[in-house]
Amino acid sequence: MIVATPWIQGMNAKIGKILVAATGKGGAGKSTTVACLASHWHKSGRKVALVDADPNQTLTRWHGKGNALSELTLRTQMDEHAMIPTIADMAEGHDIVIVDCAGFGNQAMVFAIGAADLVLIPVMTDEANVFEALRTRKIVSSASMLTRRKIPARTLLCRVKRSVIAVHARNQLVELQAEPLDCQIFDRVVFQEATFHGSAPNTLEPGGAAARDIEQLAREIEPILWVPERVESHPVHAVEREMEMKTQ
Ligand SMILES: Nc1ncnc2c1ncn2[C@@H]1O[C@H](COP(=O)(O)OP(=O)(O)O)[C@@H](O)[C@H]1O
Ligand SMILES: [Mg+2]
Repeated sequence: MIVATPWIQGMNAKIGKILVAATGKGGAGKSTTVACLASHWHKSGRKVALVDADPNQTLTRWHGKGNALSELTLRTQMDEHAMIPTIADMAEGHDIVIVDCAGFGNQAMVFAIGAADLVLIPVMTDEANVFEALRTRKIVSSASMLTRRKIPARTLLCRVKRSVIAVHARNQLVELQAEPLDCQIFDRVVFQEATFHGSAPNTLEPGGAAARDIEQLAREIEPILWVPERVESHPVHAVEREMEMKTQ
């Protein structure tokens, strides 16, 4: 007999939220941003689980260094067909499951997006990154239609250097309705230092600029994750209409 899990039955309140970091562009800052975000939430008392869906296994190595992420449950999952069961399993007993996808379009990413409460799309400030972010948003729109619920997605400018180009990239994202978050993650050495230690800015430089970037990110996305948009107000025909309007 096939028994529906509570997760499938209707997202009961005890089930953790699912944050998926995805974009078809490698090097945009997915793994770094989610590792630091995971450490931030862990330190603020949330139960965080990690799913590494990238064959490069950046997050798995980060976790394995026995530092900021070592107390978090991590699953390295390369089998696309195991992706949804893995996420569902981790969502029971954790406040949040963070999925780090590979930097290229793949089916595991599509399945993870289909399960997401929020898709975070890191974007660097160049044309190829903006282009890939838009492609990823199209995947989110398709997954929304497939799952008959609106899956929230936000772009996040990452590795930002203060320049006119950074302003231009943001303007492009706004113009193309890619919903950029207000906060952005700046290009800072401490983020790279953290990769060697398996650490995070909140340990390496507590209260420093990088730690503040991550805090602001958490503050901006928490209301999206923990006060979800009402599913009833976004029936599938509304999602379809929204897509039609965007493609006109
Ligand atoms: N905010 C940042 N500031 C400086 N370097 C960063 C930042 N975010 C990521 N990096 C560096 O950029 C490279 C790619 O980042 P990564 O998080 O692995 O991207 P992705 O997971 O999207 O491929 C790594 O060398 C990482 O250390
Ligand atoms: Mg990565």
